[in-house]
Amino acid sequence: MTVADELIDLRSDTVTRPTAGMREAMATAEVGDDVYAEDPTVTVLEAEVAALFGHEAALFAPTGSMANQIALQLVVPPGDELLCDADAHVVTYEIGAAAAYGGISSRTWPAVGAEIDPEVVAGMVRPDGYFAVPTRAIAVEQTHNRGGGGVIPLATLRQLRRVADEHRLALHCDGARIWHAHVADGVPLAEYGALFDTLSVCLSKGLGAPVGSLVVGSAEKIARARFVRKRMGGGMRQVGILAAAGRYALAHHVERLAEDHAKAARLAEAVAPYGVLATVVRTNIVPLDLTKHPLDAPALAAAARAEGLLISVLGPRTARLVTHMDASDGQIDQAAEILTRLLRA
Ligand SMILES: Cc1ncc(COP(=O)(O)O)c(C=O)c1O
Repeated sequence: MTVADELIDLRSDTVTRPTAGMREAMATAEVGDDVYAEDPTVTVLEAEVAALFGHEAALFAPTGSMANQIALQLVVPPGDELLCDADAHVVTYEIGAAAAYGGISSRTWPAVGAEIDPEVVAGMVRPDGYFAVPTRAIAVEQTHNRGGGGVIPLATLRQLRRVADEHRLALHCDGARIWHAHVADGVPLAEYGALFDTLSVCLSKGLGAPVGSLVVGSAEKIARARFVRKRMGGGMRQVGILAAAGRYALAHHVERLAEDHAKAARLAEAVAPYGVLATVVRTNIVPLDLTKHPLDAPALAAAARAEGLLISVLGPRTARLVTHMDASDGQIDQAAEILTRLLRA
């Protein structure tokens, strides 16, 4: 028996396990040595994902973190600067990789989740030259993880594109959950793709694949990305088994994300009366702001665990619930019941 059999696990959408159909696709995948670019399933996945975003090429990577860090190395030379928000995954959860591997200097705008003011970003850009660290790229996160699954509006992204063009900067998207934004706002993936120089997109979050992300960009950038991936130890061999899981996820698990969004909305509605701010929920993440609640986040998480519900603690007074395909409607109702009971007490 595993954690997921016994407990309701809403810590993350990464906890899902491959479905029977996905396992079948993996078991029957055609494979080859992908370091020789000879794995047909990987090659097809890369072409499919590039086409979805309207770009020339894509590269399969083991993790979202590696896909982000490969992309950042493509657009920011060592010593130069990346701008992103203070809560961005690339500077919060990737263990200093941009600095450690890419020699990249990062500067952040205050954490505002998906509510970015392009004027603030424009005001931070430092020009090329001799006296200050030159800014080379802007990174945004769609949807925003620590920003409660918020969706950056298309209009904001277009304004950021204009800022990038005006200052000759690259624009990168950490699109680990860009599929959720696509489903929530109905923006075609290619429309998002057209706004960015590079994207990283994950198959192993809400889409339910066990492993896998892709870097998306021009043919020239992706040729370079292949080199950077190998340098980072991410060259893989008969990895078509995993690419097959990703292809299956893209074919079967994108449109169903709307169900996860509905589950998150139900949870948010259930906790709202107990002073827990969850009003901004747009996708599959429910942030719990416990600032005004007698229970702090670790205490709530411990009490929930004792009742069979796992939630994430993001800070002393911030907790997080994430809905996903392995959390049934019945489990969501149970989770809502447990949380409201604990929060009411
Ligand atoms: C927004 C975002 N970007 C990147 C990642 C990194 O993905 P991985 O855990 O595959 O490295 C995550 C992981 O949860 C994420 O939430």
